[in-house]
Amino acid sequence: MSRLEIRPIRKLDAEFAVPGDKSISHRGIMLGGLASGTTRLRGFLPGEDCLSTLHAMQALGCRIDRVAPDEVLIEGRAGKLLPPAEPIDCGNSGTTIRLLSGIVAGFPFTTRLFGDASLTRRPMKRIAEPLRQFGAELICEGAGDRPPLTLRGNNLRAIHFTSQVSSAQVKSCVLLAALQAAGKTVFTEPSLSRDHTERLLPAFGASLRNENKSIILHGPQRLEGTELDVPGDFSSAAFWMVLAAGLPGSKLTLRHVGLNPTRTALISALLRMGAGIMEKVEQPTPEPLGTITIVGGNGLKATQVAGKEIPNLIDEIPILAVAAALAEGTTEIRDAAELRHKESDRLAVITKNLRLFGVPVEEKPDGLLIEGGCPLVGAEVDSHGDHRIAMSAAILGLLAKGKTVVRDTACIETSYPGFAKQIAALQELGR
Ligand code: S3P
Repeated sequence: MSRLEIRPIRKLDAEFAVPGDKSISHRGIMLGGLASGTTRLRGFLPGEDCLSTLHAMQALGCRIDRVAPDEVLIEGRAGKLLPPAEPIDCGNSGTTIRLLSGIVAGFPFTTRLFGDASLTRRPMKRIAEPLRQFGAELICEGAGDRPPLTLRGNNLRAIHFTSQVSSAQVKSCVLLAALQAAGKTVFTEPSLSRDHTERLLPAFGASLRNENKSIILHGPQRLEGTELDVPGDFSSAAFWMVLAAGLPGSKLTLRHVGLNPTRTALISALLRMGAGIMEKVEQPTPEPLGTITIVGGNGLKATQVAGKEIPNLIDEIPILAVAAALAEGTTEIRDAAELRHKESDRLAVITKNLRLFGVPVEEKPDGLLIEGGCPLVGAEVDSHGDHRIAMSAAILGLLAKGKTVVRDTACIETSYPGFAKQIAALQELGR
């Protein structure tokens, strides 16, 4: 089984870029496959999750060429996908299965979508309900509305749907189905989740609008191929941001990174904690991107994170918990029960791993109380098959005293190919 062995580093003085944004790469492939004409994605993330989406769209008849490791050319099918010859493997990727469901719901053939053990545990009722309202036939084969999913597409009718969770995957599934549904679809969510789909649809020629905190899309609509420059993934940058914030005397510059405000609430949380961070937007549309500079070692203090901020740092909570472990006082994370439905039960796994590093943590049904400032001691921990847990544990290892071993790290490939190499390079520089 793959593992990472980590020794602490004393300083960090570096400038680099992280690989492409996972959410934008998924959407670029899917929208490009539906569009007419060619779409070029530069800075595509060649992680396993996005490759699941790439293979899925190929299985639905799209020609997709990888002209470079991080560049793809997609020949769109002008809204006419083909029936897949076999069930489609979505791997570990919730984004693939939920967004693809919204796409195939509009096609008059049967698609079966399945995934690995972790994906098979993830709830699908949240997308099954709206897709059935649109008129699609959908069976969740797993107990409690879990995958595999079998969908039979139909002529869809537009819906008005209010989601109980702030989830960009649910929102995107609904918007993708709405593109193919006759009439006016209105989508509402409790608070704003990441808005990549709303930003990218107009780049592919679609029109939609916001009205009274809802999104309105009139279907059916056709998409036109385009060229997209995918920014670096803020969620990947987050690991290095917390590392730099926690190391006295460090300076880190991250270039060409996504700065979409629905993704960057970690910056606000770290600023409240006293970290030295500057962001500079260099390109505003369709996706804001720019440079982040972090100057470390100001001494962090505890904060509270709850409510509307949660969806905008949902993937960063494992690494925010590392910052909390370094901060003086007790950091409180609330309203984050969604974390129990990610690649692992992240509230349970963060609690378990932080305790192994010597951090006192109280697990709540919807959050965590993390008492920071205790000495961190290197530990042997498990990723529980969850990429963000594995990478957060590796960062703890760079900050803790003694040796750390992170077991089962192959999952890192889902979102951050090259992470282990980056760790090795920083260890070399920071001895
Ligand atoms: C994603 C949305 C988020 C996030 C996931 C990627 C997306 O999930 O956790 O890693 O690309 O839409 P939810 O929207 O379900 O919270």
